[in-house]
Amino acid sequence: MYKNPKVTVVGAGFVGSTAAQRIVEKQLADVVLIDIVEGLPQGKALDMMQSAATEGFDTKIIGTNDYKDTANSDVVVITAGIARKPGMSRDDLIATNAKIVGGVVENIAPHSPNAIIIVVSNPLDAMTWLAFKKSGFPAQRVFGMAGVLDSSRYARFIAEELNCSIKDVRPMVLGGHGDSMVPVPHYSTVNGIPITQLISAERIEAINARTRTGGAEIVGLLKTGSAYYAPSASTVAMVEAILLNSNRVLPVCAYLQGEYGVQDLYCGVPVALGKDGIQKIFEIELNETDLKALQKSANDVQELIAKLTVLA
Ligand code: NAI
Ligand code: 2OP
Repeated sequence: MYKNPKVTVVGAGFVGSTAAQRIVEKQLADVVLIDIVEGLPQGKALDMMQSAATEGFDTKIIGTNDYKDTANSDVVVITAGIARKPGMSRDDLIATNAKIVGGVVENIAPHSPNAIIIVVSNPLDAMTWLAFKKSGFPAQRVFGMAGVLDSSRYARFIAEELNCSIKDVRPMVLGGHGDSMVPVPHYSTVNGIPITQLISAERIEAINARTRTGGAEIVGLLKTGSAYYAPSASTVAMVEAILLNSNRVLPVCAYLQGEYGVQDLYCGVPVALGKDGIQKIFEIELNETDLKALQKSANDVQELIAKLTVLA
């Protein structure tokens, strides 16, 4: 009998529950939503199942606090951890979230030894590196979500600037998910036309700056947490590329072994995503400024990972 793919979402907070909702509503997979808080994932799962008649989906979601229920997942999305409050950088979350993400991976890996892990918890690049080291899985199956979100924000600001359809915008943001992320205007196009031909250099710099602080802008408005609609949509775009084996080319926080001059680090670069996870890392030509910016961003990730090693 045909069995739906199985996706576990760890963390039933804002990002996790919204991602779970999008997955079942798109009928991509059955979902197991797991959290440390008793009743929270169960209640949210029950509520979502009761929307199935109206939304018209046949996929299932259960909530649990027991990792046995996550066994044999095809994809595991990790959103467990604390989120930013105003005045906090993503990096301020490192000590708390390292303990949480490390513990989650130790529970997930033995139950789903063949799963693909997508890390969402912040600070993203360091948490993805931690998940890779803790799981013992091949790097092809452990990566992080950030570039899809950062690019999606970039696309929105470009479309707004040009008053054009977002459907024609192809944005590119590389590097770590921090203040030194690297929007790449030369490779960001509107239906193939580089935005450098459409928007003044001054306005591009302003859009780049807004993209880099896109997460903080929302934290400043929400005050009690961080963004989740665009983050969950971005995560599910990656889950979809894997489950449909579509080989979509997306910016993903991937393990680099010499690409772009970066060694033994996780950083956002364009990859093809399919059923085996990262099918290919694309090493594209960057001008000197962008390559330096990417390497600076990778250095920032390296500093965070050094903090992690001290904490361990
Ligand atoms: P949230 O606070 O709404 O949800 C976090 C959930 O994790 C809570 O339900 C909490 O009970 C759960 N949790 C804590 N410890 C756990 C454990 N040991 N096992 C299982 N569950 C546990 O936070 P939100 O808004 O959902 O954000 C989640 C994480 O994702 C944060 O670290 C945030 O910074 C990050 N994030 C990353 C983005 C990215 O682009 N990579 C974008 C948006 C958020
Ligand atoms: C964001 O960029 C907080 O990393 C999260 O919205």
